[in-house]
Amino acid sequence: MKPVILAGGTGSRLWPKSRAALPKQFLSLTSDKTMIQETVSRLNGLSHDAPIIICNEAHRFLVAEQMRQIDIEDSDIILEPVGRNTAPAIALAALNATENGEDPVLLVLAADHLIKDSKTFQAKIKDAEKLALEGKLVTFGIVPTEAHTGYGYIKSGDSVNLGFKVRQFVEKPDLPTAKQYVNSGEYFWNSGMFMFKASTYLTELKKYNPEILAICKKATSETQRDLDFIRIQEDIFKTCPDDSIDYAVMEKTESAVMVTLDAGWSDVGSWSSLWETGEKDESGNVVVGDTLLENTKNSYVNSEHRFVSVIGLENVVVVETKDAVMVANKNDSQHIKNVVNHLKSNK
Ligand code: GDD
Ligand code: MG
Repeated sequence: MKPVILAGGTGSRLWPKSRAALPKQFLSLTSDKTMIQETVSRLNGLSHDAPIIICNEAHRFLVAEQMRQIDIEDSDIILEPVGRNTAPAIALAALNATENGEDPVLLVLAADHLIKDSKTFQAKIKDAEKLALEGKLVTFGIVPTEAHTGYGYIKSGDSVNLGFKVRQFVEKPDLPTAKQYVNSGEYFWNSGMFMFKASTYLTELKKYNPEILAICKKATSETQRDLDFIRIQEDIFKTCPDDSIDYAVMEKTESAVMVTLDAGWSDVGSWSSLWETGEKDESGNVVVGDTLLENTKNSYVNSEHRFVSVIGLENVVVVETKDAVMVANKNDSQHIKNVVNHLKSNK
């Protein structure tokens, strides 16, 4: 089994800490390790090949250094000249993994998830690996707790050995649809982690999105390797459609199955999710750094450089960094993307 770590996202909802030069997967948000270090370390004890990490070219030294810090010296780091989302990224990894005529099972992981119970997670990976070896595309389904519109939804079908058939896969439905799915009790969240043989993915991609596969093949026909870095041809890869595995393959394939996962998974997508998963004091506050809170409840306060005090507020997020301070209503922290877009357009 070969881990493929997707590390090319921008994480803009975690501004002002997550920046273009240092997106959230390279930050320590839930422990002393960075999110990508946690992702790789979580596999310790499982037998697996050297990981493939796929990220933007700009982050190559960050990735190499952060892997070195956790004693991972043998990873292949594929560098994307531009981001084209996860369907092409996984195609590049699958093509790389099959280069020498091998066909490993790929364990595709996002670099920015939190999973509290690694033992249960590893047991589920072993189940999923068996299904992947049978030619299935395996998803890990999470029991939903709210009608979140940022997730994919999986309707489970008949049970198969160790899992369920996927009857329907819907990526990021609108709110009324998500509500209906959650109320029905028949749907799971897609965790955004997958397991399949490299050849299974390439076959399904060819069936449903031949253009992405053709461009990825062409862009890797003359890959250049220097040290651990594998470079992709920019002029060709730039022409690739931008699409996620969820839309490009998972919504369409008939070979998907799901194993359920109950291991304290969460997509650390926003400050409010860091509040939800964080350790709270007796007033329900999660605090990081040099802070003083008085008469303040259910809030997330993170200071990096300066002393921060919050008095008489509830449900707020306060994040202080060297050059920016963000104060938000905790329920609105999904809207931070708008600030980031504003800053980008004013550059
Ligand atoms: N290499 C590379 N290149 N990685 C990428 C790219 C890219 O162009 N775009 C995104 N990624 C990485 C991100 O860093 C993240 O680790 C992972 O791929 C998933 O991308 P997101 O952008 O975070 O996806 P999402 O959260 O909107 O949706 C996915 O995850 C949800 C669960 O967290 C989907 O799979 C949903 O169905 C799922 O519910
Ligand atoms: Mg995500």
